Amino acid sequence: MKTVKTHLILSCLIFCFLSCDKQKEHKTEQTVTVQPEMVLDLVALQTKNKLGKDTVVTVINDPVYHKTKKYQAVDALLLLKKEVDLSKVDIKNTLIVFECIDGYKPEMPLELFLKTKSFLAFKDVDAPKGSNWEKILKNGNEMNADPFYLVYTSVSADNQEYKWPYNVIKFHLESKNKNIEALQPKDDKTAMKGFGLYQKHCITCHAINGIGGEMGPELNYPKSVTEYWKENELVDYIVNPASFRNKVKMPTLGITKQESQNIVDYLKYMSEKKAEIRN
Ligand code: HEC
Repeated sequence: MKTVKTHLILSCLIFCFLSCDKQKEHKTEQTVTVQPEMVLDLVALQTKNKLGKDTVVTVINDPVYHKTKKYQAVDALLLLKKEVDLSKVDIKNTLIVFECIDGYKPEMPLELFLKTKSFLAFKDVDAPKGSNWEKILKNGNEMNADPFYLVYTSVSADNQEYKWPYNVIKFHLESKNKNIEALQPKDDKTAMKGFGLYQKHCITCHAINGIGGEMGPELNYPKSVTEYWKENELVDYIVNPASFRNKVKMPTLGITKQESQNIVDYLKYMSEKKAEIRN
């Protein structure tokens, strides 16, 4: 009885998992060709005096200083809108990435960033004489927030979705599908066909070069499956995994032999394009 129940729950879970992912994949397919990455060089804009008017903002319960703070700042949202034509940006599928001096790059959905007021603080009103900032203590080191610290006046400090980076030098706008684009065989029409099918049926469970799901094994790195499977058997396996393995976890996906061949052609193409696993 217990196992029946577990099975039922499991099947529901797998069904939800697959159907949710279907929707996601659909979106990805439509937006694979996105705008090129856009960069806002804040330091360069400051040098050119193009940051806009500065004001004093009050941040209650600042998450870096853990108290209420006042900063001299410019309006970050206004600046972004002035420098980037947002009507040309696919906002739902874009991330805003904050590049910091040490290479730290926190990111958040652009859509969320656009929802609230944000400010680039460049001077701490309570800073001791001769300094722009009250010291920040981090892992026993004294830091300051130069050149910019991104703050919000109406976001609670414990809202983890909003990022409060200091030492910020640039904003980037990046496609959420940038990783997917790295798997695209741009210069090969045949492989492109298989890539479309791969995205639709496989990527939620399998990674190529570390990009993709983790439920099934990585298919390309360090060895491509096309290097240790016989090609015709690989094609058959993908059509019907259960004909090869007992109690196989990979589902039969209802793809044709021709489609499977296209996918294998794509996998062969990618076997020439191995990359170090990311993340
Ligand atoms: C729901 C998740 C899922 C999906 C979708 C899926 N697989 Fe799998 N796949 C697995 C799992 C799990 C395994 C590990 C073996 C098993 O089935 O137990 C596997 C194994 C494999 C293997 C054998 C790897 C090896 O060396 O043993 C290949 C090749 C493969 N999958 C290709 C594909 C391709 C191509 C697609 C898309 C058409 C796909 N899979 C879709 C989960 C999935």
